Amino acid sequence: MSDGVDAAAWLEKIAGCSEPGPGVTRLPWTEPHAAALRQIAGWMQAAGLEVSRDAAGTLIGRTPGRAEAPALLLGSHQDSVREGGRFDGIMGVALACLAVRRLHDEGVALPFALEVLAFADEEGVRFPTALIGPRALAGRFDPEVLEMRDTDGVSMAEAMRAFGAVPEEIAGLARDPAQVVGYLEAHIEQGPVLESADAPVGVVTAICGIARYGLRFSGETGHAGTVPMGERRDALVAAGRFVADVSEAAEGFAESRATVGQLSVAPGVVNAIPSEVTLTLELRAPEDATRDALEARARALAEAAAAACGVTVEMTRTYDQPAVACDPGLRAALGDGMAAAGLGALELPSGATHDASAMADLCPVGMLFLRCAGGVSHRPDEFAAPEDMAQAVAVLAEAVKAVAARG
Ligand code: HGY
Ligand code: MN
Ligand code: MN
Repeated sequence: MSDGVDAAAWLEKIAGCSEPGPGVTRLPWTEPHAAALRQIAGWMQAAGLEVSRDAAGTLIGRTPGRAEAPALLLGSHQDSVREGGRFDGIMGVALACLAVRRLHDEGVALPFALEVLAFADEEGVRFPTALIGPRALAGRFDPEVLEMRDTDGVSMAEAMRAFGAVPEEIAGLARDPAQVVGYLEAHIEQGPVLESADAPVGVVTAICGIARYGLRFSGETGHAGTVPMGERRDALVAAGRFVADVSEAAEGFAESRATVGQLSVAPGVVNAIPSEVTLTLELRAPEDATRDALEARARALAEAAAAACGVTVEMTRTYDQPAVACDPGLRAALGDGMAAAGLGALELPSGATHDASAMADLCPVGMLFLRCAGGVSHRPDEFAAPEDMAQAVAVLAEAVKAVAARG
């Protein structure tokens, strides 16, 4: 249980590395991020790891003295959404350090090195992209993202340089797949399945895919009092129809999700007809083919809503993350870990995406989910219990041994 108590204490303390306000707001390449890495470095040292930081701002703790050995990678992301919780991402870094500490204290000899990774940016909240760290390791880094700007107009490259990262060296971070055994990530479930099953942890089968779009509805503004209703080209009426229609349409696609998370209206005054509405659309599905079919439906609905209101619409894909199947061998090793910890087998899909989604381009990936209270996440009241975190540390440590035993 001490691992659970330590995890809870570490996570309580690091939650203070945040912008002011409710919950945790820790965006990548910011002062809260730098402060968090100082604490995570301490976790890694407590686990007997040598600490370094790569050009993308990923903090790396590696078994000392095994420079040539292939490594089994563990970890998750340090960043949060705005006013998010204390567990999403960062808990996976803490549990990885505690599992390595446990193996170190037990004097377990492994045929590979261990690395714990604290990735800078998984949420994609500060910049309209994400997963810079894992994509760099997988050799999939797209330098164009460095020109993306946050809401203050700061480019990713400028933010990285101010943080001490080195944008021009990120492309050189690609790992040799032959030197990587696999990647294991512990993460809160962010859903209700484990709580409903009264299970502390479960093994992830697959991670959903994501596609994100920008839409722009363009009509004509005019005086709210003098333009007759039948003569209007109201962009917001069209956008409103679309938001309702696409949400209803998603119900017809298995395990799929459609979310309009951001919307802005111009000219945005009480007595003028909206001439322009921009909004974001996010589609998710366990299979990429399902998501593509839902995209086609969404495009048709946008055109129909625009035509009904006499306005035009543009829909542009801005982000794409394919669905990922977790590796059967790592799923089995995590299952061995659960059995060794005295827990019954339980597997479940992930409706959220993770660093593992991008790490799958480098190596086999496996994920362990932890029960979270009420299934809620991306909220200040996100919660995982110390006893569940203790169980997860035991499962992770036993799973590492099982990876070694399974060769
Ligand atoms: O959006 C997600 O699924 C993840 O929490 N970034
Ligand atoms: Mn996460
Ligand atoms: Mn998240």
